[in-house]
Amino acid sequence: MTSDAECVLKNVLLPDGRVTDLSLAGGKIIHVGAGRRADRTIDCSGLLCLPGAVDMHVHMRGGEKQGYKEDWVSGSQSALAGGVTTVVDQPNTIPPLTGTDAFRGRVAEATRNAYCRFGINGYVSGESDIAGLWEAGALAFGETFAAASSYGGAVSPDECAKAFSLIADLGALVTLHCEDVIPGDDTSLAAHAALRTAKGERVCMEMLTARFPPGLSAHFCHLSSPLSAEAAMMALPASFEVMPHHLFLSIEEHGTVSEGYCKVNPPVRHEMTRKALWEMWDAIPVIASDHAPHTAEEKSQPFSAVPSGIPGVETMVPLLLAQVYQGRIALSSLLEKVVYTPAHFLGIPASTLLPGAPADLALYPRQETVAISAEQLHSRAGWTPYEGMQGVFPRITCVGGHLSYLRNEFSQTDGLWVPGRGYKCPQVE
Ligand code: DOR
Ligand code: ZN
Repeated sequence: MTSDAECVLKNVLLPDGRVTDLSLAGGKIIHVGAGRRADRTIDCSGLLCLPGAVDMHVHMRGGEKQGYKEDWVSGSQSALAGGVTTVVDQPNTIPPLTGTDAFRGRVAEATRNAYCRFGINGYVSGESDIAGLWEAGALAFGETFAAASSYGGAVSPDECAKAFSLIADLGALVTLHCEDVIPGDDTSLAAHAALRTAKGERVCMEMLTARFPPGLSAHFCHLSSPLSAEAAMMALPASFEVMPHHLFLSIEEHGTVSEGYCKVNPPVRHEMTRKALWEMWDAIPVIASDHAPHTAEEKSQPFSAVPSGIPGVETMVPLLLAQVYQGRIALSSLLEKVVYTPAHFLGIPASTLLPGAPADLALYPRQETVAISAEQLHSRAGWTPYEGMQGVFPRITCVGGHLSYLRNEFSQTDGLWVPGRGYKCPQVE
């Protein structure tokens, strides 16, 4: 006897070219092929089904001080509307997540408000309770600010080295924000890039790599040039990520917004570097968004006063899927970089779209690209540097078989926290 499904997605196009039905139950895909008997059937003719993306670098803001920029409701809805079903939140919150009380508070805030799956990283500093954070469920450690950035003070090389050996002993992953900042007048995108150079990124990476204890799992965040990506490849088995803003924006081509909106750390580079980064597309293991929302009011201040960071969780997959449709990159390469490799590095499940896999998936129009418009996006930031660029946005996003995003509406489900491997559930007395 065949078991019943809670929901059948009918006539989906799979990445391998088959058109078939997906039967979902108990949070999983239970059958691929003619749909099982179900309470609900959704006709997905004309829609391409992809596994939900895992964005391993987002700043969801929220808390008491930063909810005006973004919070877990708006940030996680933005993720779902961009085909991202799991986000990994960075711990440079106010206050930063250095200890277990702050960490547990963050998990509780996200549990109440998030619409997508989420992992939360522990903060790395001289004061951090690394072992405590691991047992409290940190998914990984970092981004570790080897240079200061928005809401992250610089951690000294010695403090980094101490944290690395504790993290290596736990068998956890550390993620690293590497830059070398030259003091000076920060008045334009060109000046910002000259004060935070690609060479400086590489020097910082090499300085930290020299301090890696044996067996450390390390991941370099947001590399902005082939020069730094090459350094990451030499630090194997370290991994690295590249962000959409370094692939789609540059000092010369920063969209329709004024320069301050594209201020980010590490900075956007010159056109030549941006194009060279595309040339090494196949060698990039992970694409993540570094979703770092700030308001239009903050971003339109004089350049030197503008906080660094660009919202991007909702536009990451859409921008790249449009590149697939335009024939520039292969769909399989996109799925490796936004689904399978990040999940693998983080040690969490990803949907393979096979029977038994979690039903985390998104359904996209199979041909149509649209001009990106801030008005259609869900981040509280309310603006995007990608205005007018082509994107492919999902119509439906499922998390654990739940129709979390359907016909422009969101619906919440529970059990979304993804704790790390060190999690010890507190004993109830
Ligand atoms: O530009 C950035 N903004 N880079 C970071 O590393 C942090 C982020 C933020 O939190 O705003
Ligand atoms: Zn960073």
